[in-house]
Amino acid sequence: MRMPAVRFDRALNSVRNVPMTKAILLAGGAGTRLFPLTTIVCKQLLPVYDKPMICYPLATLMLGGLREILIISTPKDLPMLREFLGDGSRFGIELKYAEQPKPEGIAQAFLIGAKFVGGAGVSLILGDNIFYGKLDFYREALALKQGACIFGYQVRDPQRYGVVEFDRDGKAISLEEKPKHPRSQFAVPGLYIFDDRVVEFCRELKPSARGEIEITDLNLQYLKRGELRVKQLGRGIAWLDTGTPTSLLEASNYIATIEHRQGMKIACLEEIALRMGFIDARKLMALIDRLPKGEYREYLQRVVDEG
Ligand code: G1P
Repeated sequence: MRMPAVRFDRALNSVRNVPMTKAILLAGGAGTRLFPLTTIVCKQLLPVYDKPMICYPLATLMLGGLREILIISTPKDLPMLREFLGDGSRFGIELKYAEQPKPEGIAQAFLIGAKFVGGAGVSLILGDNIFYGKLDFYREALALKQGACIFGYQVRDPQRYGVVEFDRDGKAISLEEKPKHPRSQFAVPGLYIFDDRVVEFCRELKPSARGEIEITDLNLQYLKRGELRVKQLGRGIAWLDTGTPTSLLEASNYIATIEHRQGMKIACLEEIALRMGFIDARKLMALIDRLPKGEYREYLQRVVDEG
């Protein structure tokens, strides 16, 4: 039977107008560069100043308005992450969990999470990526209807990251994973946005020489189709590294400096839940009642009192 054209169009529009709600937070890896810190506790639960590292990427997703989040980690670390964050209801979000049995690549997250992703677009954040600053760049990118969006951030040591090269017009022309001789100073942070073809594209990827399904190869799928947007992040955004003891300490000092100066917390999930309208003040007060006495509780009490 022939479908009336008008109905078809309307269906298409309604799908496209659905804002992105889903994200994957990948908290994998062995954290070998942080040994012996990571012997018992996984990297993403190590402290970055006054809270576990995973709060920061989770805060980024929440500030992007994403409320359905799949956390992927190793079989060893997943129970501890689940114990810390629970089902997300106290933050007005929905957290699900899945195991990545072996470290077989970042893009494998989409195969592990295929059912969760379903037919929707999805954002991915790595559990050790900390962003600080105005997140408008992320919110704008989340409005993406088709294709993929990643970011470029100027760093001193691009060879440690995925590297993106731009032409004179600012258009991305090449992407390489940890190149020995980087073609630019622009690293690709671990924050990505993909349309509903992401799982399909991942299924086509072959493991790299190091046996991983590479996120850079997934991004290349979009680049070669002319459907990869790469937005350069300017000076107003801090993208912090936490991969080594020194960078972890620097990240902690950075967060501590700003929190002390302003008297406001960064990545305080209960506060973000309130400010985003995911929970109301009554719910926050009930949460506060269950918190141990101390600075964190006093801060949240102030958030409620000051409205
Ligand atoms: C991964 C990605 C790399 C990206 C980086 C951002 O590297 O493979 O492209 O630039 O995250 O944190 P890894 O942290 O696994 O070395």
